[in-house]
Amino acid sequence: MQDSNKPDLDESLNVTTSHEQMLREAAAVVREKHVDEGGKEPMSLWIFGACAVVALVAGGALGKAGSMFDYDETVRPGYVRQTLDTDDGGALPPVPALKAYMSKGEKIYGKCIGCHAPDGKGGGAFPPLAGSEWVLGDTELFAMIVINGMSGPTSTGKVWGVMPAQGIGMSPTDLGAVMTYVRNSFGNSAGDVVTTEMAAEAMKISEARANPGTPVTAEELTAEHLKALPGEPLDPTAMVDPVSLEPAESPSE
Ligand code: HEC
Repeated sequence: MQDSNKPDLDESLNVTTSHEQMLREAAAVVREKHVDEGGKEPMSLWIFGACAVVALVAGGALGKAGSMFDYDETVRPGYVRQTLDTDDGGALPPVPALKAYMSKGEKIYGKCIGCHAPDGKGGGAFPPLAGSEWVLGDTELFAMIVINGMSGPTSTGKVWGVMPAQGIGMSPTDLGAVMTYVRNSFGNSAGDVVTTEMAAEAMKISEARANPGTPVTAEELTAEHLKALPGEPLDPTAMVDPVSLEPAESPSE
């Protein structure tokens, strides 16, 4: 039995020894770790510090060296932020008169397009406006046709039918714009502007006709309206407001 006990004692002794050993080893591990940490931490601070110095020096050198980081290279010279002028309710920038009258006139031409066609060449029962003598000739004559409509013969002597009056609901600005558009489209190139002022005069002349509201005839047109509309000619390049077609105020005002 003793024999059988002895190994037990040995075992317990061994356990004690191995406990001590374990503690010693653990202490060694902890010691080593301390040394490890003690060695590492100052090193990483050193590297950090060295990198910071390198970055500062290199950055300064790069900043002075080339144009890559120059203010002028990264900012577009002369760039000015554009804002809408809110003083006058966000008005659009002015455009040259002929351009402004043309783009408004193109919209008003929607009244004529069904008969005279998008290319102004007419067709079927409708005469062409492209190359028409009466479109390109005296503006008073052309205006009388648009406001009152007409009953032939037309400028070529050909009778097509009757054109209904188009002036109803048109403002002087609309009339001037559509006349300017027709006189400068489809190959027509009068090169001038029929102003709102001229169109307003045309409306007065039309009201003063002997038989207002009836379509004009070739006879009346050639007898009474072979004239340019009264009014100051407008320089086609003068700046106007694109919506109202009023002369744009000069920037100094
Ligand atoms: C409903 C169809 C119709 C509409 C819309 C119409 N016209 Fe006419 N237009 C005619 C007809 C038809 C004639 C020819 C009348 C005739 O034979 O007497 C004519 C003739 C003319 C003439 C004379 C051409 C020439 O060489 O003698 C002009 C200029 C003209 N129209 C311009 C216009 C303009 C500008 C508009 C739009 C604002 C317009 N017309 C809208 C049908 C129309």
